[in-house]
Amino acid sequence: MSVQERTLQNFNISQFQVDLLSWYAANKRDLPWRRDQDPYKIWVSEIMLQQTKVDTVIPYFYNFLEKFPTVYDLAQAEEQEVLKAWEGLGYYSRARNLQHAVKEVVEQYGGQVPDKPKELEKLKGIGSYTKGAILSIAYNQPEPAVDGNVMRVFSRLLNIEDDIAQPKTKKVFEAVTSEVISQEDPSSFNQAIMDLGATICTPKSPACALCPVQAHCQAYKLGVEEQLPIKTKAKKNKTLPYVALLIRDDEGNIVIEQRSEDGLLANLWQFPMVSIQELDLEHVENWFYAHYDMRIQLGERQGNLKHVFSHLTWQLEIYEATLVENRSESATIRLVTDEELVTYPFPVSHQKMMHYL
Ligand code: ADE
Repeated sequence: MSVQERTLQNFNISQFQVDLLSWYAANKRDLPWRRDQDPYKIWVSEIMLQQTKVDTVIPYFYNFLEKFPTVYDLAQAEEQEVLKAWEGLGYYSRARNLQHAVKEVVEQYGGQVPDKPKELEKLKGIGSYTKGAILSIAYNQPEPAVDGNVMRVFSRLLNIEDDIAQPKTKKVFEAVTSEVISQEDPSSFNQAIMDLGATICTPKSPACALCPVQAHCQAYKLGVEEQLPIKTKAKKNKTLPYVALLIRDDEGNIVIEQRSEDGLLANLWQFPMVSIQELDLEHVENWFYAHYDMRIQLGERQGNLKHVFSHLTWQLEIYEATLVENRSESATIRLVTDEELVTYPFPVSHQKMMHYL
């Protein structure tokens, strides 16, 4: 007997589907990407919803589709414009990969989002979850779409104790959901599991009393719903200290720089930052001249900001500075007016710095 056969031995799949789908039909959330089955809109929504909550995504989704209503509009847009529309959502590589993949859809698939697993998974930024979400929601194919929320729901339903922090565990849940998914209405099935995870089968204090599939839940029966899923702790988040500089020249222009094209916050713009992990404040001006070919004079400290990313934290000490001499010829450094400043895509922490200007 295979692992999923054993896991599903006493699980009444057809009754589970009936209970889940009738609950969904009566209670589904009215979300903007559920108003039609346009695969492009579903794709955009699923990329935005990775790591980001529904309430945060909704206004971004509307704005993004107003700016880029079709794959052709997104394919033709300037990357800076796309990043600007993503400003504040975080994980900006999602936006760059999405545009990259959409260009490929226009060039290789005549603008039609592929409906074949093999073609979809070749596109940048589409992993097994997004692939399954597009195939099931837009094309009604019985493909699993397993993310952390779906693993939580099924770990409880079937009392699965595999560590969901381990990448290989996803395969276990994909195998199980492939067996349980409705063949008649996979689109509703997957979205119902997402809604159940968001509204009832929540990480803390799940609302089991209100759960439409309580009768099917192993964890509820055993009283272990709060102990599942098993998830080992991630590594400790490291704090990196910086001086972040609001530098103006004698005409009031502000110095900004573009981040590198790979890594954290790739291609976004920011105020220059100097790592002070191994550098004292008194050496910042010299360090700056050596690295930027710009002589600055440090002014008053304006305040500090902390920004937590998934894997590290920035501790920013914010200083005013004056540009004394500019020998920089770098294409990634610009001097801009206050009006120009707001047209560039900035990370949230640096948007907050603008309040000190
Ligand atoms: N979370 C991820 N995808 C979702 C969707 N399509 N609907 C609601 N919540 C989601």
